[in-house]
Amino acid sequence: MANGKLGTVISMIDSPNTTKFAFVINDDALGELKKGQFIEVPHENGKLIASVNDIFRSNKYFERAESVAEYERAGIMSSHFPVNDWSFTIAEVRIIGVFDGKLLHRCSFPPSPGSDVFAVEDELLAKYLGFKDNGLTVGKLLNHNVDVRLGLSRLFQKHVAILAMSGAGKSYLVSVLLEELLERKPEDGRLGIVVIDVHGEYAAMKGTALSDRITVYDADKIRIGTKNTSPEMLPFYHSLSGPQKRMFSATFNELKKAAKLERKFFTIKDIILNLNAIEDKKSVATRDALLDHLEQAHRMRLFGKVDDPSITSLVRPGYMSVINLKNVDNEKKKQMIVTYLARRLFNTIKKGKLPPFVLVIEEAHNFASEKVKREDMLSKSEIERIAREGRKFGASLCLISQRPVHLSTTALSQCNTQIILRVTNPYDIDHIKESCEGIDYYMSNQITMLKTGEALILGEAVVQPIFVRVRERKYDFVSAGVDLEAMARQYEQELNSKKEDVEAFL
Ligand SMILES: Nc1ncnc2c1ncn2[C@@H]1O[C@H](COP(=O)(O)OP(=O)(O)OP(=O)(O)O)[C@@H](O)[C@H]1O
Ligand SMILES: [Mg+2]
Repeated sequence: MANGKLGTVISMIDSPNTTKFAFVINDDALGELKKGQFIEVPHENGKLIASVNDIFRSNKYFERAESVAEYERAGIMSSHFPVNDWSFTIAEVRIIGVFDGKLLHRCSFPPSPGSDVFAVEDELLAKYLGFKDNGLTVGKLLNHNVDVRLGLSRLFQKHVAILAMSGAGKSYLVSVLLEELLERKPEDGRLGIVVIDVHGEYAAMKGTALSDRITVYDADKIRIGTKNTSPEMLPFYHSLSGPQKRMFSATFNELKKAAKLERKFFTIKDIILNLNAIEDKKSVATRDALLDHLEQAHRMRLFGKVDDPSITSLVRPGYMSVINLKNVDNEKKKQMIVTYLARRLFNTIKKGKLPPFVLVIEEAHNFASEKVKREDMLSKSEIERIAREGRKFGASLCLISQRPVHLSTTALSQCNTQIILRVTNPYDIDHIKESCEGIDYYMSNQITMLKTGEALILGEAVVQPIFVRVRERKYDFVSAGVDLEAMARQYEQELNSKKEDVEAFL
């Protein structure tokens, strides 16, 4: 039945119109048509393309409850009436547009009742959905055997948001995107990739055949060159009193100026030493309070003489740098790392000193939270800045979140492509509906029913919203997200082997 006739357009009270119609499905196409599938109808201006919103069955014999109950009681319904001859199945479809062979136009004239309805040829579908031969293959179009190949520019020129509840397949999808980015040929245009890896999931990609394209930076080895920061960037700055801010800034700037003149470096320890040298009795209380903050910052083991790694070494076309934050417990330290990297990456690309890159941020709501003030979460300002201005310079964001409600609306609204996997929380669904253009009732309904690894892609990257089955990873690796059963087994195995060791020793 492939590409054959599926059914016939019927006349209903309010359709066919220019947005929807219904058709009765041929018996031999019954098992073939699925909700969400694309269909076509010949049209004056080309081919009318539509997608199946719902399918329902009807039978005149079973319309009146009281007569059905009466006949069934007597057991004569199917034995005395040709009930099967009156059973029919209707598909309700939403018109997407009319494809003239090159472009998709808005439908300005409805199809006629009686028109034949056909399955869409896969090739035509790929063409009209704008898939690129050298695009990123994220999976198959749901209900069709068509590879979804998203054009690199359309996807990353204006930022991407990947939103879904926990366990719906966000990180898996990101690893598929990363595989695609890392395997691109130079002639197709390659991006540098920096991943903020909160759970150490992407660091595990280092164990695959892509290893030589991946560098993992563990957070405890990362250092921020103190002279490259400013007083306001230190995590405690905004909680200081006026006099403390003035004293800190004066000391910091003095050291920074001297370091610049003498081409030297300074660290938090130097600031502490300089403050300790203040002898003015009136300033001692301010100084001591300030010293507490500085000691804490020093204990973070994050501020050093120079940046390590350097910003320019982080971004290389076709290569990925993973910032592994897995073992960092201190939220402020995580945010400081993201703040600093985001700021330096943006400022450096603005000066034309970096190739185009994508900054992938897992758990983005923890770095750009809607609910926290900018001064209490410095990373938020930096992420929002890249969201607003990044595309002019080739800096792209890929924000991943399981709590879209908590993600900065400024950042989210700048993400022109949204990839949404299963979401069931009503607040998150409402938020997604408000912030994503082009999402209708049918789609928001479908989002709650998606299976793991199924996604809705909307926005700039696609001509029209599509549902996708995310492909399997080419390079399998054990990510940090092991399931509970495996964790429990591992724990008991380790315990038993320790017990055996002790027994052997005794
Ligand atoms: N497309 C897919 N094909 C096969 N397995 C998948 C697919 N997508 C997800 N999975 C599996 O489903 C599980 C959950 O996926 P994943 O870790 O990506 O979820 P998540 O949305 O990132 O969750 P969290 O918010 O908790 O990080 C994993 O075991 C993963 O291997
Ligand atoms: Mg995840």
